[in-house]
Amino acid sequence: PQETAASERQVVVAAPRGYCAGVDRAVITVEKALDHYGPPIYVRKQIVHNKHVVETLAERGAIFVEELDEVPEGAMVVFSAHGVSPAVKQEAKDRGLRTIDATCPLVTKVHQEAKRFAREDKQILLIGHAGHEEVEGTAGEAPEHITLVQSPEEADQLDISELDNVAWLSQTTLSVDETMETVNRLRKRLPLLQDPPSDDICYATSNRQAAVKQIAAHSDLVIVVGSANSSNSVRLVEVALEAGAKASYRVDNAGEVDPAWFEGVESVGVTSGASVPDDLVQGVLDLLTEHGYPTATEEKLTEENLVFALPPELRRDLRRDT
Ligand code: F3S
Repeated sequence: PQETAASERQVVVAAPRGYCAGVDRAVITVEKALDHYGPPIYVRKQIVHNKHVVETLAERGAIFVEELDEVPEGAMVVFSAHGVSPAVKQEAKDRGLRTIDATCPLVTKVHQEAKRFAREDKQILLIGHAGHEEVEGTAGEAPEHITLVQSPEEADQLDISELDNVAWLSQTTLSVDETMETVNRLRKRLPLLQDPPSDDICYATSNRQAAVKQIAAHSDLVIVVGSANSSNSVRLVEVALEAGAKASYRVDNAGEVDPAWFEGVESVGVTSGASVPDDLVQGVLDLLTEHGYPTATEEKLTEENLVFALPPELRRDLRRDT
């Protein structure tokens, strides 16, 4: 195959990309807890869905567990950004664990909506992916009221014979377009379907999708940095392909980029999911330079200025003990 002339090549990096306010808060929460109380700090599930973040915190003394029964009595445990069901909170209480809740406030908002709809005795169609921690947490707020709908196809197949007084909610990190398609198909069958009071797909998810769409339309290849279990990162690959990228791949870091992808490729787009530190993106940009691509230019769609305060239980201890 012909090598593309270096002068025709370009690299565009999307913005916004990378850390959202909820991830930033969750990671700082574990760091501050390690500094303040000293290790070990237990964390239930990955604090955010990124391999490197988890490994770095583990080196500093965080111990990641799947379930609370792995946490010794009286120890300190942090709940991850994806949220937990009331049953998990109760279990922590019963076991006498000290807890810090790093659930993203935008996930907590969806929990509140679920509780309110359940109080109003509504049936809730929760659009999201089975097995994802956020979905388990949200569904746990009102298990008897919630039915999971995973795709537009499932919306078509849903048994609606028992459904009456129905509202929908969603996971925060889905594809905006696919979710709208699911809702449209549900509404065709359930004309009185009630919307959530405000968008459940969060600002960071929508902004990263809109930004990658913009660069994908003129990219031969879009590289998305993010871990395989990161819902919003995986969606970015899908959105890039739908928006016209000829190829798109997800990598955890530069080491996973296959140079064969560059064959005949002039324009490369790069972005990253909401749980990805920017040095991992820089690693991919450096690799591109090594392969003869020019320095990246940034295409910024919008500014993000949201910052969340740390969990109140941590702030209280930091204030009291300093
Ligand atoms: Fe929160 Fe959205 Fe990030 S729900 S953790 S701001 S991806």
